[in-house]
Amino acid sequence: MSEQRIDTIRLQRIARGFTETAVFYAAIDLDLFTHVSHGAASIDAVAAAANISALNAERTVVVLLAMGLLEKDVDGQLRNAPDCEKFMVSTSERFAGPWMTFTRREVPQWFDLTATLSDLTPPAELGMYDDMTVERARKYHSATYSIGMGAGRRFARHVDMSARTRLLDLGGGSGAYSIQAVKANAGLQAIVLDLPAVTIVTQEYIDQNQVADRVSTFGGDFVNDEFPTGCDIAVMASNLPIYNAKNIQKVVQKTFDALEPGGEMHLVGETLNADGVGPLDASMWGMAEALYRSGGRSHSVTECLGYFETAGFVDVENVDFVAGTLSRTVGRKPTS
Ligand SMILES: C[S@@+](CC[C@H](N)C(=O)[O-])C[C@H]1O[C@@H](n2cnc3c(N)ncnc32)[C@H](O)[C@@H]1O
Repeated sequence: MSEQRIDTIRLQRIARGFTETAVFYAAIDLDLFTHVSHGAASIDAVAAAANISALNAERTVVVLLAMGLLEKDVDGQLRNAPDCEKFMVSTSERFAGPWMTFTRREVPQWFDLTATLSDLTPPAELGMYDDMTVERARKYHSATYSIGMGAGRRFARHVDMSARTRLLDLGGGSGAYSIQAVKANAGLQAIVLDLPAVTIVTQEYIDQNQVADRVSTFGGDFVNDEFPTGCDIAVMASNLPIYNAKNIQKVVQKTFDALEPGGEMHLVGETLNADGVGPLDASMWGMAEALYRSGGRSHSVTECLGYFETAGFVDVENVDFVAGTLSRTVGRKPTS
């Protein structure tokens, strides 16, 4: 039997992984995927459209082809890979550029991670949300909205809300989940609970989507403040790594207590596998909390199931929401 050869290839790729991010950011800055979508099918055409030299266009295209973000057809003409065509063309409604560069400002901090990890100062309660202003919230949620509307649409497809009347959207941000939920369910109203500064921005998205008669806002802190009552369904999406286990348990318990009997809760989040090993994306959102100096961390599927069962939910299960990225834990409050 031949012995498995151990080499440095994987380690070298990891050591230079940041170069992929840098080229992707540059391609977004140059609006390269939009140019290709609009017909720039050769290196010279990309150079002219992006206003860069032919040599630099060639370097960029060569990397993007290697990364699988661009493809060549049989005649050697360039085209976007299907995901880039769908989400990286800035003239499209589905453009997700703001989300792709959402954490770009953190690049210097990531490269100072050793110092951050060695800092023994106790973490703050809210981390990056501690000093949220309307201006910051507006910038932040232009990014979450660009990805959240798709996630909200998926949630409305996966979860039957046709018999539900009032959705509580915890940490709802732009309101994307609520907006999509009421658009898909004629009998549903929704309340977006978020920090007071954020709800000003939520209202702007509610107005823009013309659902102000069905979606309202509630300014507050979901860890410490009372929840609105009269809701028969609750969702908390993309908040999981922001908090430690104690606070997630507290929020799940408060949701259980506030829901109507027979109501259901959905926790959509970046979740580690049951054994705590991977996926990488979920582990990295937990690590990012170190940069924000919060007490947040990655939570496993096993832990999420435990939060629900401890709170009193029944029929608790965890299902894939976006494979490899987000899972959804769901439970029902008994009727009696
Ligand atoms: C990553 S965003 C997710 C937004 C939305 N759920 C989505 O998936 O598009 C997290 C949101 O949680 C809110 N948040 C974090 N901690 C909170 C707290 N203690 N009380 C209320 N909102 C909170 C933030 O202000 C932010 O809007």
